[in-house]
Amino acid sequence: MDWRITTAVFSALGATALTLSLAKTRLDLSRAKHASLPGHARLSRRIASLIPFYTYDEREVFRSDGAPDEIAKRRRAAFMQLSALYRERFAKTAALTAQVRETISDLQFTSAYRVPFQYSAFVRRHLTAGSFVEASRGVTVTDLDGNVFYDLTGSYGVNLFGYDFYKDCLERAFRRVNDLGPVLGAYHPVVADNVTRLRDISGLAEVSFHMSGTEAVMQAVRLARYHTGRKRLVRFCGAYHGWWDDVQPGVGNPVAARDTYTLKDMSEEALRVLARRHDIACVLVNPLQALHPNANAPSDSALIDSAREAGFDRAAYTDWLKRLRGVCSDRGIVLILDEVFLGFRLAPGGAQEYFGIRADLVTYGKTLGGGLPIGVVCGRSDLMKRFRDDRPLDICFARGTFNSHPYVMAAMNEFLVRLDTPQVRDLYRGLDDTWNGRAGRLNQRLAAAGLPVRVANLSSVWTVLYTQPSRYNWMLQYYLRAEGLALSWIGTGRLIFSLNYTEADFEAVADRFVAAATAMWRDGWWWTAPGLTNRAIKRQVLREIVAHRVHAWRVGAGAINSPRSR
Ligand SMILES: Cc1ncc(COP(=O)(O)O)c(C=O)c1O
Repeated sequence: MDWRITTAVFSALGATALTLSLAKTRLDLSRAKHASLPGHARLSRRIASLIPFYTYDEREVFRSDGAPDEIAKRRRAAFMQLSALYRERFAKTAALTAQVRETISDLQFTSAYRVPFQYSAFVRRHLTAGSFVEASRGVTVTDLDGNVFYDLTGSYGVNLFGYDFYKDCLERAFRRVNDLGPVLGAYHPVVADNVTRLRDISGLAEVSFHMSGTEAVMQAVRLARYHTGRKRLVRFCGAYHGWWDDVQPGVGNPVAARDTYTLKDMSEEALRVLARRHDIACVLVNPLQALHPNANAPSDSALIDSAREAGFDRAAYTDWLKRLRGVCSDRGIVLILDEVFLGFRLAPGGAQEYFGIRADLVTYGKTLGGGLPIGVVCGRSDLMKRFRDDRPLDICFARGTFNSHPYVMAAMNEFLVRLDTPQVRDLYRGLDDTWNGRAGRLNQRLAAAGLPVRVANLSSVWTVLYTQPSRYNWMLQYYLRAEGLALSWIGTGRLIFSLNYTEADFEAVADRFVAAATAMWRDGWWWTAPGLTNRAIKRQVLREIVAHRVHAWRVGAGAINSPRSR
């Protein structure tokens, strides 16, 4: 009898210990999440599904912050004047955009999400600049109406050395491989040189070629899972790694990414989770987050107030990466540095060189293709292997019809060869000082003019910050365009300069930037009620959302307006 009691007691103790240990593991995980919606992927998807579409009418558009009549009138008059200027100046470009808008899904999406959704329909009706360009030269692009813009889109980060550089890469590449043409499967000899150069740059033994950054990330994660036998992947709050399901667990993905943990960036709690858990295959790091840790890519569609924050601290981020490296090494977790965006922008050896760390797998893309689509994984041999010597059917499959496409490989080679030339190496000399100096000078001018706008930067990647609470910061993108500055569809959240911007080019951009912000100030958009805070703005928007949600439930509709009206 005694032994039975003893066994029962030990079983109960064992079960309690196990429950406590599981609870502790769960608690550690909760603590390692960032206290924001992007930090809670599942919750953010649930909340997003509850937010109803509603739209401001013409009266509300100009006074959603409770501005007095005189200010609302001033804003309206300025808006209509800007609208007339857009109609005249961008006529052809806007007309072709209108013609194709309903048939290009991507265009419908990007044009609907340029500004917070409450204003979107009205703004789009009156301020369509269009989405077509027909030429690029130096640091400019030209639209169908012949308007020349300074290009701050950076072509999503691809344009690092200036469009003429890539045109040259492409022309030469096409000539070099034309004899072979689009033969796939077998390699053009240029591949061998690419591999040598990429091994040298990455400090890693093997290379695989893919067709986009998203695919490179997919393959890196798949390899990490294959070799560790674990399934969880860790990404950091706000970080973008392409649009594959497992790396986009929050809003934007219709299904839950159950094997993904989104942890707080630059945090002890995250390191603790990595140090204790046994199920983590890999940690994905996008070093661009150094500019805005734990925040999503700053898009003007989310610019409902002035709470956007950013600032780059190289020493702090370097220290973080080194500690992360240490924990991953200790725990056999594969550290994947996703350099698809930042690779080659900070240093010729990429973010690894710039921050002084070595990852287990590195993904590259964008600019590396010399102007053509690309994704690359570089990694340790043991991690890159796709089969096992002792189990022939246990493989880690990865293909892709167009991988190692001769034209892409040749354009990449042109890029890599030029990267080693003294002219290109020169561009990296004093790079941070150059861009920090430019950002500092622009900020001084903005401050001296009393404008509530500043910029923050990670080298040549910039974001615009707003220093006083306002609901109308998103209007700045339209004033900037009127001044001849081209921004991507996410607006003032991300300005990407190419390294061929001269001082004179930059001064021209700065002049136009200050002129745009001055006009916006003059037109009353930054009028602010005494004592207004960002928190108060958020509360106001939340009240509106709740009221519209309740109304939608009452009338039994999922949304207030039909999607077509957006
Ligand atoms: C860090 C990072 N990883 C992956 C991707 C996805 O690359 P792609 O758009 O070529 O699929 C991006 C794209 O912006 C990125 O910035």
